[in-house]
Amino acid sequence: MHILVTGGAGFIGSHTVVALSEAGYTPVIVDDFSNADKSVLDGLTAILGKKVICYEGDCGDKQLLQKIFNEQAIQGVIHFAAFKAVGESMSEPLKYYRNNLGTLVALLESMVSAGIPDLIFSSSCTVYGDPAKLPVTEASPVQQPESVYGNTKKVGEEILLDCQRAGLPLRSLLLRYFNPVGAHPSGLIGELPSGVPSNLVPFVMQTGAGLRPQLTVFGDDYDTPDGTCIRDYIHVMDLAEAHVAALAYLKKLNTPNHCDVFNVGTGKGASVMELIRTYEAVSGRKLPFTIGARRSGDVPMVYADPAKIQREMGWSASRSLEAALTDAWRWQQNIQ
Ligand code: WQD
Repeated sequence: MHILVTGGAGFIGSHTVVALSEAGYTPVIVDDFSNADKSVLDGLTAILGKKVICYEGDCGDKQLLQKIFNEQAIQGVIHFAAFKAVGESMSEPLKYYRNNLGTLVALLESMVSAGIPDLIFSSSCTVYGDPAKLPVTEASPVQQPESVYGNTKKVGEEILLDCQRAGLPLRSLLLRYFNPVGAHPSGLIGELPSGVPSNLVPFVMQTGAGLRPQLTVFGDDYDTPDGTCIRDYIHVMDLAEAHVAALAYLKKLNTPNHCDVFNVGTGKGASVMELIRTYEAVSGRKLPFTIGARRSGDVPMVYADPAKIQREMGWSASRSLEAALTDAWRWQQNIQ
């Protein structure tokens, strides 16, 4: 079964391509490579032992989508393609709304006209804002996200729910990711942040590798056990495999239209300091860091209650934070 993976050359997309292929699907990538490197395709070929079908272009281009749908007999779509830099989204909101939401609408229109109902949408725990109760379940209130990026995820979810309410022939699953980290254990694909990483793990890896002088911990005066923020760090291969489980779940549905939300996290929280200590343990290196000011928009604690995806799909994360940081470190050393 051919599955279109938009943004399939990106961090989560490329790992999902591996998981899809290993589960017997035929992944078809469409990516404009605006935030991905073509070398990812070589990594995928090395891991899978075969070339992955890839179309270069904008997945909001309806002509291109029509061409791919026809040429590849696509039977489902996993939609990763989106801009995701939280800080940039605040200074360039229209770029984010046009890309993240305009592309989603174009994709949905193309899917409806091509008679392709099944979509998995990449959403984010950022829609929970600063949760009043932890762990967060799918029934936890969606709050006004702190960033434009987060709002494009929230509005994207609303667009899909409205399509379901209107009875459009679409069946979508909205996967709310927590914090994806790590890399494929082969060390052949991984996270390739452009410029100075804003996310913690790539910054830790580059600091550990001596590419950055030190990590700044954004605040240690939060109301948490060690004062640093707590997040639910999920191995990117666990996240990739959750998409395979979600696809199988969609294919078993016998309703013509559907929309449902699932948290995809480990259910375990880890603080910034715990992550630093874990990195030091798996790498055998001391990490140079300093405590700095809080970063605006950070929430003190957020981690998942993953019971619903376990109950309904029989999937749960299986890899540890140690494994994720070990794999991320191997990848960092390979790309030196
Ligand atoms: C984690 C913790 C920082 C960098 C964001 C997006 C989310 C998703 C994942 C796309 C926080 C601290 C970080 C540093 C630090 N993105 N930190 N020093 O903010 O939880 O989530 O990325 O889907 O939608 O919001 O992840 O890795 O940026 O930060 O102390 O140099 O690490 O303060 O507490 P975040 P993060």
